[in-house]
Amino acid sequence: MSALYRTHHCGQLRAADAGQVVSLAGWVASRRDHGGVIFIDLRDRAGLTQVVFRPEEAAAVAQQAHALRSEDVISVRGRVAKRLVGTENTRLATGEIELVADALTILNKADTPPFPLDAEAANEDLRLAHRYLDLRRPRMARNLQTRHRVVKTVRDYLDDHGFLEIETPILSKSTPEGARDFLVPSRLQPGSWYALPQAPQQYKQLLMVGGLDKYFQIAKCFRDEDLRADRQPEFTQIDIEASFVERDDILQLVEGMLAAVFKAARGVEVPLPFPRLTYDEAMNRYGSDKPDTRFGLELVDLSDVFALSQFKVFAGALSSGGVVKAINAKGFAGVTTGQIEELTKMAQSYGAKGLAFIKVENGEWKSPIVKFFSAQEKAALTEKLGIAEGDLLLFGADKRETVCEVLGRIRLRVAEILKLVTDPARLDFLWVTDFPLLAFNAEENKWDAVHHPFTRPLAEDVELLKQGELGKVRAAAYDVVLNGFEIGGGSIRIHEPELQAQMFSVLGISAEQQAKQFGHILKAFSFGAPPHGGIALGVDRIVMLICGETSIRDVMAFPKNNRGQDLMSQSPSEVEPKQLRELALQSTVRQAPAAAAAAPPRPAATAAPAAP
Ligand code: AMO
Ligand code: AMP
Repeated sequence: MSALYRTHHCGQLRAADAGQVVSLAGWVASRRDHGGVIFIDLRDRAGLTQVVFRPEEAAAVAQQAHALRSEDVISVRGRVAKRLVGTENTRLATGEIELVADALTILNKADTPPFPLDAEAANEDLRLAHRYLDLRRPRMARNLQTRHRVVKTVRDYLDDHGFLEIETPILSKSTPEGARDFLVPSRLQPGSWYALPQAPQQYKQLLMVGGLDKYFQIAKCFRDEDLRADRQPEFTQIDIEASFVERDDILQLVEGMLAAVFKAARGVEVPLPFPRLTYDEAMNRYGSDKPDTRFGLELVDLSDVFALSQFKVFAGALSSGGVVKAINAKGFAGVTTGQIEELTKMAQSYGAKGLAFIKVENGEWKSPIVKFFSAQEKAALTEKLGIAEGDLLLFGADKRETVCEVLGRIRLRVAEILKLVTDPARLDFLWVTDFPLLAFNAEENKWDAVHHPFTRPLAEDVELLKQGELGKVRAAAYDVVLNGFEIGGGSIRIHEPELQAQMFSVLGISAEQQAKQFGHILKAFSFGAPPHGGIALGVDRIVMLICGETSIRDVMAFPKNNRGQDLMSQSPSEVEPKQLRELALQSTVRQAPAAAAAAPPRPAATAAPAAP
């Protein structure tokens, strides 16, 4: 370290250093004046150290310290002293000592920050607009250090396992990962566009055709989709692909990698192997393809119990091929009318027609629907749901997918209300396997790939694909889930050009479109593609979960807000008309909006012939 500014950082000094003369540099986190004696908490990335300026020891320096304000940048020299017994601060790593200053250099004065850096609940827009200040908060510094540790561990682990880190283009061709592309106009090819990669999917497969065997990349991905707490328009993947592998090779590799990451970044041993659930099991038991298994509250199928039901809602659902399922919210019989209304509205927003319920109170089943139940049905219900005093039963009757989805959402909300996750440190990893290959898109009357079009059907289901039983075909696809978050997903790929072309046809992509959009990959496959497979994991989500944050924005240095804006640099922003002309573009919007934060969504620029 440059002794001009500092000999140590602000998280370093301990009781054993007492007596040493040292220098520290950093920001003034707080200043307290105790009758002429000035105390300062000095902050840098590594921590806080208390600095004390005593007029009786260095009068001129103490005088100087009077002028210090929050966030001023200073360098101080002094003697490390043990704090008096009883004045130690056990919450600080440096809390046993303080620095008794004898020299102070004010390196830069700071304006008053727009929000207090020690407050946890500062308005997020304000924080994002001044992200450089927000990043000084110890929590943000910790999160970014954790992120570094995660990525470093991944690099070391994959290097140890023979993987090469290879970069792929950012200016690339549109890949159908299911989201909207960000497009970049080409100046040299007017009217043509690059797409920012939604993922390096095709490139990594082409690297396998290129014989690179084991690839990884800490890859930036770009998806123009609606944003949420765990979704950003640009995010980072640990992207992996390997040749001559089967599903279990990838699962084992990733389990080992995640165990190494959680050991390095959180200091915990993750038990291996992770449990596995098929997609069908996950949907049937948890109503989700990313089940949170930190609590039970499983969905129970009651279709056979109600086969002869007098209740028209149940009978109707069953007679049209649907199911009846329920969850038993133990101890929730005290549910309020407001809560039932909230849950019912929620169920309806996911497509349910209603949310029948039974409260078990004072030995009685309280519900308008109980009168339709026979003694036999009640007995079977009691047995299947393990019903006891104080329980609340919530029912869904509809098509299987609707019931699973609805009760899956209700399950999560009930768990939240009842605070069923009791151990905040608990980590429930699991694999979900055997996803369906295809899903019917009723709006567009066509089949979509559930994962992406390069995913391989299970060998035993290829025949179904040929027979056109498209909804029944399972994919060699897998997701890794942690505490109800999908942290990664991948598959074994199609490597035969004929099967790939067949898959494109099933997706309604004509031969002509195939040649135009995917000609390069079909051609590459015709030159000897090895069997291959891979996965991509979301770095942001993993780091968020390790740090105990609830938004990936808190583990990214410069995230966008949920309107896709960088409030600090005010991007996206207008550009000079000259820039548009050079790109042969015309903007359909004339006036620059006054404030980015209040800006309505703007229509995109359109490609148009260059002005003559
Ligand atoms: P997939 O689309 O499932 O697969 O993405 C893999 C992982 O990336 C993370 N992720 C995101 N994180 C933050 N913001 C987003 N908008 C976002 N979207 C995805 C998730 C997800 O599990 N090419 C395939 C992988 C493969 O087949 O190898 C792919 O991208 O954690
Ligand atoms: P109804 O006979 O329509 O008054 O419904 C009686 C109860 O069943 C109400 O609590 C409804 O919310 C509920 N209900 C109606 N349709 C369904 C359904 N498809 N699944 C579950 N509950 C339902």
